[in-house]
Amino acid sequence: MPLVTTKEMFEKAYKGGYAIGAFNVNNMEIVQGITEACAEEKAPVILQVSKGARAYANHNYLVKLVEAAIACNPDLPIALHLDHGPDFETCKSCIDGGFTSVMIDASSKPFEENIEITKRVVEYAHEHGVVVEAELGTLAGVEDDVKVSAEDSSYTRPEEVAEFVEKTGCDSLAIAIGTSHGAYKFKPGTNPQLRFDVLHECEKMIPGFPIVLHGSSSVPQEYLEEIRKYGGQFRTTYGVPVEEIVEAIKYGVRKVNIDTDIRLAMTAAIRKYFVENPEAFDPRAYLKAARAASVEMCKSRYIAFGCEGQASKIKPLPLSEMALLYSEGVLRQKVND
Ligand code: G3H
Ligand code: 13P
Ligand code: ZN
Repeated sequence: MPLVTTKEMFEKAYKGGYAIGAFNVNNMEIVQGITEACAEEKAPVILQVSKGARAYANHNYLVKLVEAAIACNPDLPIALHLDHGPDFETCKSCIDGGFTSVMIDASSKPFEENIEITKRVVEYAHEHGVVVEAELGTLAGVEDDVKVSAEDSSYTRPEEVAEFVEKTGCDSLAIAIGTSHGAYKFKPGTNPQLRFDVLHECEKMIPGFPIVLHGSSSVPQEYLEEIRKYGGQFRTTYGVPVEEIVEAIKYGVRKVNIDTDIRLAMTAAIRKYFVENPEAFDPRAYLKAARAASVEMCKSRYIAFGCEGQASKIKPLPLSEMALLYSEGVLRQKVND
């Protein structure tokens, strides 16, 4: 099957009460690791590419790697998504360059400006049958203690979400409920406390609309122990427990973003490999170990998020048909119903 959008994925995920894993890709081994796990679990997947990934690997390489993954796994629904698109031009370049989904992240801008920028991306994307994720609220800082009032101000304001979705026409919405990007999410003694009250209120405002959770890595302690054991350094830190993500999925979260956990799994495996094989120098050997570690991590997330076995239920529409339905207002209508 060709690259798909997330439209059908989210509709099925809503009906089935599960979430799709969205994993960041930067090179061949990561694409292979994620899609191998996906094939084993028969799970639909979103492969997402950040601005940094495009700078590192080059847009064309990443698209071709994802196309290769599709050729090797013709039955798997795979969406190619731009993660944290910073502006219209970047989103346009990804839409023109074969992506089926883009995120416009104008969350640091004032509300009205965020609407304006998002709306512009949505109009262009929908004309091409491509879907758009937007963001309201900014994710908490990586590890700094912030005063409650400042912290509160970065959470998504539930009273804004319906107006935002209505005015922009976006297809999914990332919200801030206390998760954060990177490995240093929670310090010792600060229990991860996601603002489920904010999530519940948001869900009530946009029932059935796909909610996205960024910064959802769990930072498994076993990876940190392995990294330290084999010569790496890591301050004590905690991620978002998988159980909290599972809880969030009960309240409308349909896309769960993970990058850091892949990095940790691969780093732990590579460090171990070099310590156990000090004379090794063939990248195929240590990257194979890293790729195998990423497969295991991804598999465990697919199972936890409930999307294993769901691949065959996704019947994607071609982008041209999506574009037609958008122009007739049909798809938007469906989400709001
Ligand atoms: O949201 C951030 C992702 O983890 C991407 O990270 O910008 O280093 O590629 P990156
Ligand atoms: P993590 O850093 O928690 O893996 O989050 C990744 C992410 O949100 C990508 O957009
Ligand atoms: Zn993110």
